Amino acid sequence: MSERVRPVVRVGLLGCGVVGGGVVEALARNRDRIVETSGAALEVRRIAVRDLRKARNLYVDRDLLCDDWAAVCADPAIDVVVEAMGGLHPARDAIVQAIDCGKSVVTANKQLLALYGPELEQRAAARGVSLYYEASVLGGIPAVHTLQTYFAANRVRRLRGIVNGTCNFVLTRMEEAGVTLHEALAEAQRLGYAEADPSQDIDGDDALYKLQILTRALAGQGLDLAAIPKQGIRSITLADVQKATSAGRRWKHVVEVSFDDKGRPVSASVGPVALTADDPLYRVGGVQNALAIEGDLVGEVTLMGPGAGALATASAIVEDLVKWLTRLTSLPSHHLAPTPRVLVCSP
Ligand SMILES: NC(=O)c1ccc[n+]([C@@H]2O[C@H](COP(=O)([O-])OP(=O)(O)OC[C@H]3O[C@@H](n4cnc5c(N)ncnc54)[C@H](OP(=O)(O)O)[C@@H]3O)[C@@H](O)[C@H]2O)c1
Repeated sequence: MSERVRPVVRVGLLGCGVVGGGVVEALARNRDRIVETSGAALEVRRIAVRDLRKARNLYVDRDLLCDDWAAVCADPAIDVVVEAMGGLHPARDAIVQAIDCGKSVVTANKQLLALYGPELEQRAAARGVSLYYEASVLGGIPAVHTLQTYFAANRVRRLRGIVNGTCNFVLTRMEEAGVTLHEALAEAQRLGYAEADPSQDIDGDDALYKLQILTRALAGQGLDLAAIPKQGIRSITLADVQKATSAGRRWKHVVEVSFDDKGRPVSASVGPVALTADDPLYRVGGVQNALAIEGDLVGEVTLMGPGAGALATASAIVEDLVKWLTRLTSLPSHHLAPTPRVLVCSP
């Protein structure tokens, strides 16, 4: 048996709810795989939460918990910060502080990214660190990475997507179980697919934020959010759903953006559309999400998968961490703080 020395990268986690708990679990479960692909172990060393007494995911070491996000961001013994608190405050301040302390940040925060993404990215670039946000849109589906890295030769004409799992679940249940929107929403809440206050989802704001992030990821420039026609699903009745079914159609909540020849976004919309059966988004059911990308060379490519959930979202965060690490360690001299070493035994 030979021994190899592996570096340990120390992760500071802000938030340990559905997503944060999933990150701890994902890093623990796939530790060996991450070491194999990135050459380093990613270890959560500190976790900031609001309420220290709450029950946590079983993988969480309670000794790592604290209720001071600023201390985690400033801690010189933390190499990289994962933000999974959500909302604008204090998430924005926390990300700014982590960047100013020279740490790269991975976040799942769509609202923050949609409203302040460019500002935060510029701040990170000026400080020589990175901001990754794959998990902020389409959960576990690698949409941001695909849009940023693949469509360089194609002119993308259009993006269309089902990006809100709550809306899609509600519309699917209305069709399959013949229940009203109110009943389907109550079921979504019981199953943990909808918040106690689901207005961000069913009024279309969440979808609008995600459309902004997708547009920026592809085009490098965003949309004027106030100018986009935005509709949620509140006004869809069971009779509407049944009428669509008998006409061979299915209501879906769809975001869409078109681009000109120079790749600039020219028009966008967010709202319910009665799709025909030949549409690739027609069969996207329940809490699944999908993104159809229309390129002038390739035609239409559709990415589909879990748009939310602890491990699916954590998967996107951990992939971002590994991406960051791989990029960092490929630089001639990298900026990881001096780290303790861990011995990994391999046959
Ligand atoms: N849930 C999903 O499937 C999903 C999918 C994609 C993206 N996201 C995004 O991921 C983020 C987190 O979502 P979530 O579902 O994990 O939310 P959540 O379950 O409500 O967890 C939020 C966590 O943040 C902590 N927190 C809130 N304010 C804090 C503060 N001031 N200081 C320290 N900790 C604080 C909370 O602490 P306590 O636990 O002590 O209350 C909790 O652990 C959001 O931006 C969301 O949009 C979620």
